[in-house]
Amino acid sequence: MIKRVDFDEYTDSYNELLGEKTKFFASGDEYFARYKIELVRKHVNTPVKRVLEFGCGIGRNIPFLQEAFSRATVVGSDISRASLDVAARENPGVEFLCEEDNLADIGQFDLIFVAGVFHHIPPNQRTLAAGALRNRLEKLGHVFVFEHNPYNPITRRIVNTCPYDEDAVLLKPTELKSTLRTAGLSVERTEYCLFVPPRFSMLSGLERRLGWLPLGGQYWVQARHDV
Ligand SMILES: C[S@@+](CC[C@H](N)C(=O)[O-])C[C@H]1O[C@@H](n2cnc3c(N)ncnc32)[C@H](O)[C@@H]1O
Repeated sequence: MIKRVDFDEYTDSYNELLGEKTKFFASGDEYFARYKIELVRKHVNTPVKRVLEFGCGIGRNIPFLQEAFSRATVVGSDISRASLDVAARENPGVEFLCEEDNLADIGQFDLIFVAGVFHHIPPNQRTLAAGALRNRLEKLGHVFVFEHNPYNPITRRIVNTCPYDEDAVLLKPTELKSTLRTAGLSVERTEYCLFVPPRFSMLSGLERRLGWLPLGGQYWVQARHDV
């Protein structure tokens, strides 16, 4: 049986490990947060008043969500209490909630952002997690899920050698989409991403045209509440 990774043990080393594993691609770990949230911003054209980052970890994405959705209230949630403590310290004024608590009153969100979380959720619990996301979405609200691309050999190598990925079970886009659909979400878009390191910024136009090619470091799925 796979032993689940406890992210409480990685609050001090998370950024360092991530930076080490991805330094061939981008020198700053902020790059990935900014990249994903810019992508989300570009694809949301409905008003956003409340944003949830599900599985926010130590809160690396929170400032970028706040910047991109400056009129919205941003909330973060995770199962790792130690990670949430760091997130709260680094992001004063933002509400952070533990998924181990009763979150029946968490309310509805116009946008839910999920990055690198589903591969840590045991496969038999993923539909339940997707259902919880669906229940928290406003009608016509959107969820964006970013995941590692299992077809990319470099991604697989990074995951296989990263201590906090010991419990990772990567999902193919078809599996993620099927999980979201089973939970009652309507899948609107799927694209591969993170092909070109930022130092080759002259190729960023190319990156935008490669979403169909299963070679990106990651992929993302946009789904909405099926009304
Ligand atoms: C690789 S980290 C990603 C953190 C953050 N999303 C980021 O991009 O930096 C995965 C996070 O998912 C959290 N996680 C795992 N299972 C979860 C679940 N069932 N509900 C909420 N968070 C979960 C872990 O505690 C961890 O903080």
